[in-house]
Amino acid sequence: MKYGANLTSVPETMLWTLHNRASEAMRSDGIINDDFAAAIYQSIEYDFELNFGKAEPSHAVRSLDFDREISAFLNKNPTGTVVNLGEGLETQRFRIKKDCALWLSVDLPESIAIRERFIQPDKHHLHLPYSALDNRWFEYVPSRTPVFISAQGLFMYFTEQEVVALIKDIASRFTDWCLMFDTIPVWLSNKSTSPKGWEKTPHYTTPKMPWGINRDHLTTYFQSQLPASLFVADVGYSNFPRGMTKWIFKALTSLPVLRNHAPTIVKIEPVSLCK
Ligand SMILES: C[S@@+](CC[C@H](N)C(=O)[O-])C[C@H]1O[C@@H](n2cnc3c(N)ncnc32)[C@H](O)[C@@H]1O
Repeated sequence: MKYGANLTSVPETMLWTLHNRASEAMRSDGIINDDFAAAIYQSIEYDFELNFGKAEPSHAVRSLDFDREISAFLNKNPTGTVVNLGEGLETQRFRIKKDCALWLSVDLPESIAIRERFIQPDKHHLHLPYSALDNRWFEYVPSRTPVFISAQGLFMYFTEQEVVALIKDIASRFTDWCLMFDTIPVWLSNKSTSPKGWEKTPHYTTPKMPWGINRDHLTTYFQSQLPASLFVADVGYSNFPRGMTKWIFKALTSLPVLRNHAPTIVKIEPVSLCK
C-alpha cells in the first residue's frame, strides 16, 4: 500500500531529501546504509523524480556527516539528549543505532503527522509538533545533561534574525550543548527569493530560503552576533562519492574564490567544551 503525502511549502522539502538519501541507499555502490529510508520512500505515492529531478548524493553525504558527529557525541555522552530540529522523514536514529537518554524530533505538526505514518515515538524518542522557533521544545530537554542539537536542511528557511535569536536562546538556556546545522550561500538564497524562484525542475520550485551566508563571513558574522564564550567552526561537507557532483563539489570547495560560495556545515558550542 502506498501513502499520499499532501505536503506543500517547506514540509514538502522532506520528500526532496528523502528522494536523494533513499535513492543513494538503494544503489549497489551507495555510500549510505539505510533500508528503512528506502522502504519509506517506496511507500509514498509521489513523483519524486518529476519534481526533484534525478537523485544525487548530497543529502546522503550531509546525513552521514551529521551521523558521525551525533555518534561521537553519544559515545562520549551515552545518557545525553539529541534534539533533531526539522527532522522530517530522517531515519538517523535507526542508522546510528545508539541508545541515548532521549531523542527529540521537533517538526511542524503536518510533518510530524507524516513521520508518524512510518516512525512511532516511544518513551526515549519523542515527537514534538512545534516550530523549532517555539521554545516550548526546550522544556523537554532534561536539565544538566549534555545535549546535541541538530538542524539539517532547516535554517535556510528562516530569516537571519530568527537564526541568531534561536542560537542565542539555546546558548542562554543550556550549559553543555552543541549545535550543528548546514548553510547555503547568498547566491542560492537570492535565487530562491527572486521573483522567479529556484525552479529545481519545470515541475517544482523550491520554497524561499531567506537566509544565506558565504563561508568567508561565517565565523566573523557569528562572532559579532553571539557571545564571545561560543566557538564557531565551519566544518564543511565530506567528499561526494562519484560522477559530476564529485568534481563540481571538489572545485567548489578547493578553489578559494568558489569556496566562499559553497554550502557548508557549521558547529557551535561553548568554548569551554571544545576539545
Ligand atoms: C529539507 S527538510 C529536511 C528534513 C530532514 N532534516 C532531512 O534532512 O531529511 C526541512 C524540514 O524542516 C521542517 N520545518 C520547516 N519549518 C520548520 C519549523 N519552523 N520548525 C521545525 N521544522 C520545520 C519541515 O517540515 C521539514 O521536515
